[in-house]
Amino acid sequence: DKGGFPHYMLKEIFDQPNCLRDCMRGRLFAEDDMGGNDAYDPSTGYADPNVHNDVVLSAVRNNRDRLLSASRFIIVACGTSWHAGLIGKQLIEHYCKIPVEVDYASEFRYRDPVIYPTDVVIAISQSGETADTLAAIKLAKEKGACIFGIVNAVGSSIARETDTGIYIHVGPEIGVASTKAFTGQLTCLILLALALGHTKGTIDEKEYVDMIHELNAIPAKIEEVLKHNEDIRLLARTYTYATNFLYLGRGWNYPVALEGALKLKEISYIHAEGYPAAEMKHGPIALVDNMMPCLFVATHHKGYEKIISNMQEVKARGGRIIAVVSANDDEVSKIADAVIEVPDTLAPLAPLLSVIPLQMLAYHIAVEKGLNVDMPRNLAKSVTVE
Ligand code: M6R
Repeated sequence: DKGGFPHYMLKEIFDQPNCLRDCMRGRLFAEDDMGGNDAYDPSTGYADPNVHNDVVLSAVRNNRDRLLSASRFIIVACGTSWHAGLIGKQLIEHYCKIPVEVDYASEFRYRDPVIYPTDVVIAISQSGETADTLAAIKLAKEKGACIFGIVNAVGSSIARETDTGIYIHVGPEIGVASTKAFTGQLTCLILLALALGHTKGTIDEKEYVDMIHELNAIPAKIEEVLKHNEDIRLLARTYTYATNFLYLGRGWNYPVALEGALKLKEISYIHAEGYPAAEMKHGPIALVDNMMPCLFVATHHKGYEKIISNMQEVKARGGRIIAVVSANDDEVSKIADAVIEVPDTLAPLAPLLSVIPLQMLAYHIAVEKGLNVDMPRNLAKSVTVE
């Protein structure tokens, strides 16, 4: 059921606020929460009025020692899930001070990787059936690593192969282009990093509480971003001519740039490259001319000034610029051809907002081009072949 939307992809984009509420329910307890997320004590099954400003994950509670004694985390995934993994690395390193590697499952499994029994391998998958991710965790398991799943499909092959984990709980995703699964994966990774960091004592108490409050506010902020849908539809019309696109971001938003480029490629068949913005001058800037639109993810966080310089470099070469910016930004609009505002938030949560316009842009460009957005050519929802 498309719920009145013309495509599953658009429905799933618009479902994200409620999907993330479902994902956080029973896990995130914010003191200012006015309902729908009552503190829940898993041992009694009753709401626990004493739990406030906390993240409760049974996977962390029950595997505390194993997770905290890990010398290293290795994240394995494919496609969009791998992009979520890149943000997961930043989150776990920042809040838990545990080194994290991120690998394509298909590279990891064929590379004879060094895996220690003290490693924790996190598999991220929407379908839970991706052949390479499944094979990667089987290999890691044989070598004694603990396997932690972040999976959407309950009871799927990857979920069954893991030792512990968190279900994403965003409901079935039908559109081939992953949207709500990505923001759900990010939410799970944020919850995991917060719960683990708090248990380990590596997160500052104020930062912990601030993150809890801000994460609790994210679904409503996504609703704000979704209000730009019509503007983005009109913007999309301008870009159907493009045969190439560059997506650029830094820090927390660098994986968002990769994800935006992947969305555009897979459903609109426009070649798009995602790059860390600072890498542009090491090669890709040679591509920039007036036929190469560049999308900058430029929210008001660390690296903002630098990304403005990158934008000026593109502008000087005639490139068309679309920018995703924080609310009330008055610098970027002086340079960019079009800006899309997202509400302000804490830097580690920025991807949850900045990715939404990129999903909508890819969707509307594909629709304008008359393409089948829910079932793009050559792609399957679950990649069960190796
Ligand atoms: O089901 P998974 O999360 O394991 O799938 C991984 C990729 O195949 C998937 O994310 C793919 O890249 C999407 N079509 C991207 O939108």
